[in-house]
Amino acid sequence: MENKNSFLTLFLMPVKDFLEDDSVSEILINGPEQVYIERAGRLVEVPVRFVSEPALRAAAANIAKSVGRILDEMHPRLDARLPDGSRVHAVIPPLSRIGTVIAIRKFKKDTLTIAKMQEFGSVDADTVNLLRALVLLHKNVIVSGSTSSGKTSVLNALSAFIPDGERVLVIEDATELQLQQRHVVPFETRKADKNGQGEVTIRDLIRSALRLRPDRIVIGEIRGGEALDLLQALNTGHAGSMSTIHANSPIDCLRRIETCALLSGIDVPLQALRAQVASAIGAVVHTARLSDGSRKVVSIAEVLPLENNEYRVRELRRWTTESIAPDGKVSGRFEELARPSFVEQARMVGIDL
Ligand SMILES: Nc1ncnc2c1ncn2[C@@H]1O[C@H](COP(=O)(O)OP(=O)(O)OP(=O)(O)O)[C@@H](O)[C@H]1O
Ligand SMILES: [Mg+2]
Repeated sequence: MENKNSFLTLFLMPVKDFLEDDSVSEILINGPEQVYIERAGRLVEVPVRFVSEPALRAAAANIAKSVGRILDEMHPRLDARLPDGSRVHAVIPPLSRIGTVIAIRKFKKDTLTIAKMQEFGSVDADTVNLLRALVLLHKNVIVSGSTSSGKTSVLNALSAFIPDGERVLVIEDATELQLQQRHVVPFETRKADKNGQGEVTIRDLIRSALRLRPDRIVIGEIRGGEALDLLQALNTGHAGSMSTIHANSPIDCLRRIETCALLSGIDVPLQALRAQVASAIGAVVHTARLSDGSRKVVSIAEVLPLENNEYRVRELRRWTTESIAPDGKVSGRFEELARPSFVEQARMVGIDL
């Protein structure tokens, strides 16, 4: 792991220690004079500096070059994945107004299992049971939440409930998910090269996936027009699929899927689109990063049919924060709010809700 990224530590000497420290998950460089890291869910400023802006900028350009990309006036933004799976995003002046900005999301070697999440208090036993039921009953599930709330980690944990023997197609922009089943076929999108050629998008890969006889499709993240392709796939019988989306609540999640579908440029009447969203999505699992840096599954909601053309959900479980200690530690509890509509079906697959 370290060998593969030795060029990164070479270019970014001032943050070498953080690159090599497994307890650091993110490194955020805001120009030569300011560096923050995230450790154990907490963002802290660290007293390291780069020699100068030109030195930092050269480092960023070298990172780009090492992965066959360009970072210069004509290409002032870099979105790259490093050989070890870490993600780097960089923006240079004048777009960035404080010098070269770099964010490094380090690749987690061991992704979180649901058991670990339970140990951390991110979910409780009943939540785990409910999540397992959603997957075994082939509900289409979207994991929503804000940036870095733990969506991808929850999706990965959910995917572990998929029974062996089902054919799972995984589509991602950058490989993050680690499915353990035997019959998994993973795909990764490709960015256009420096001549603007050769781009392969999530939408393209969904189309391929549909011709590859999937039992389930797992998409790393929905960000744009691919939402429409996914809805169509789900409504034509690929139940049990799952993905993540950036949203503030379960209802907002459905609205965001709608907005993304509209970005496809394909004209679908709004009413028909909403009906598609409401029928395709079975449940929303909402995640949040709390004030103490901990991540939790804060809500699980079943999607109900439209009423007056508006989205409706039935919240099944919810986390409620009850107090925040002087050291910032959050305490509270998970509550059951409603009985799932699929209690009987769950019993048939051996889960007592
Ligand atoms: N339940 C958890 N407990 C502790 N740390 C967690 C938990 N879930 C995720 N993390 C950590 O939080 C960070 C963000 O997690 P993750 O990538 O899953 O979030 P995300 O919502 O998908 O982020 P993004 O918005 O960038 O896609 C990672 O460093 C991850 O290891
Ligand atoms: Mg993610």
